[in-house]
Amino acid sequence: MSLNKQTALPTLVVLISGSGSNLQAIINAIKAGRLNARIAAVISNRADVLGLQRATDAGIPTVTLDHTRFDSRAAFDQALQAQIDGFEPDLVVLAGFMRILTPDFVRHYAGRMLNIHPSLLPLYKGIHTHRRVLEDGGHEHGVSVHFVTPELDGGPVIIQAKVPVLPSDTEQSLAQRIQEQEHIIYPRAIQWFVEGRLTLEGNQAMLDGKALTRPAQHLN
Ligand code: GRF
Repeated sequence: MSLNKQTALPTLVVLISGSGSNLQAIINAIKAGRLNARIAAVISNRADVLGLQRATDAGIPTVTLDHTRFDSRAAFDQALQAQIDGFEPDLVVLAGFMRILTPDFVRHYAGRMLNIHPSLLPLYKGIHTHRRVLEDGGHEHGVSVHFVTPELDGGPVIIQAKVPVLPSDTEQSLAQRIQEQEHIIYPRAIQWFVEGRLTLEGNQAMLDGKALTRPAQHLN
């Protein structure tokens, strides 16, 4: 992995669209010494979101790239790619970035872009996962960190955390318990990557040189 010359730390660029609680968890993990990386920039496609404030509070440069100002998805993704590459990151971290990405963009970051998705993938790809689990009367839910590939929410899963669905659960209560798990497993997966323990070979996630035929499980 090419290390940033100035700091000799692996460099992250984090993409957000909203509250940025996962961004905060990553910032906190770096501060606590659990994650040996630096965030070169936080990029948001929406102005005035809490995540941008969190970045500013942590002294991290921010970029806002408003997707509504672009004529096409491809034009936006090209501009986004230029912004990201200007920071020369080792890893691109999608943290609540609510955009469907073009295949060219995804391919450019093959093996060096992660996402966190609030379901036990391959179950419940797409949006409104908590609502759909409740509607289906599911007893178990969770969250997955995965490599990003051109298939939406379909890339190889690295680590998951499971959460039981309680009879009293609402979308909000479920979302809250899921987010507590997100904030544990995302910094952990990123640390594996920056340590060089986690790689993507073809369409296979590898941890410590072994194929992750099943995702790692975070046990509470
Ligand atoms: C999280 O639930 C994550 O799983 C999903 O988007 C949400 C982002 O939340 N991809 P936050 O902005 O990190 O608080």
